[in-house]
Amino acid sequence: MLSTHQCSGGIVPISGDKRVFYTNSGTESIEGAMKISRGHFRNQRPYIIAFLGAFHGRTYGSMALTASKPIQRFGFNPMLPNVIHIPYPYPYRCPFGKNLTEEECGEAVLGYLEDWIFGKMVDPSEVSAIFFEPIQGEGGYVVPPKNFFPGLRKIADKYGILLVDDEVQAGFGRTGKWFAIEHWGVEPDIITMAKAIAAGLPLGAIVGRANIMDLPKGSHANTFGGNPVAWQQVLRS
Ligand SMILES: Cc1ncc(COP(=O)(O)O)c(C=O)c1O
Repeated sequence: MLSTHQCSGGIVPISGDKRVFYTNSGTESIEGAMKISRGHFRNQRPYIIAFLGAFHGRTYGSMALTASKPIQRFGFNPMLPNVIHIPYPYPYRCPFGKNLTEEECGEAVLGYLEDWIFGKMVDPSEVSAIFFEPIQGEGGYVVPPKNFFPGLRKIADKYGILLVDDEVQAGFGRTGKWFAIEHWGVEPDIITMAKAIAAGLPLGAIVGRANIMDLPKGSHANTFGGNPVAWQQVLRS
């Protein structure tokens, strides 16, 4: 087993048994979550879906998910393959038409994923995970409509795809709840965290369902994740 710890996960909006892996940054949490997602399916599902406008970090895996500004990717190709970006449901500048209501915009994005990506390009059985920010940060502080994440959860459940919620920026109280996804009442399968978790000291975490955090022992690790200096800050704040 991946060297994770069982966690009671008191504030984490994932029910049932969970495990946590500590990291040193947001990007490391994303890299780990990508390995956990693909590794959970023993690489039988090599594709990952991400969103235009997303920011997930600056190392090679997280950069491949990032699509917020061209400069963040310029000159660094080739990217990690098998990442597909789809539009994000931006209610005020909906990529599918400015006259759509918020809900119609949410539906349009969900329909695009099912009808155009899964219908024309990639069989959903080859997709391991959908990575998303519950509120896009770097992409312009974009709040998706109410129907979006419940709809995304339904699609993910229909095809056995994992939902990975990047709360590196929005988590830890920034939106009035511990985690931003709670505003939609949806449970992701994995949550990535960093930034505010240790009030400025370098700490991050990946929390996921215990049955998903199942990489074989030795396949993922780090040296300083969950180090005592950063932890002391968590306990003090
Ligand atoms: C949503 C999100 N994910 C990941 C990251 C990467 O975090 P770090 O800079 O700690 O690597 C950031 C950083 O701004 C972020 O906003």
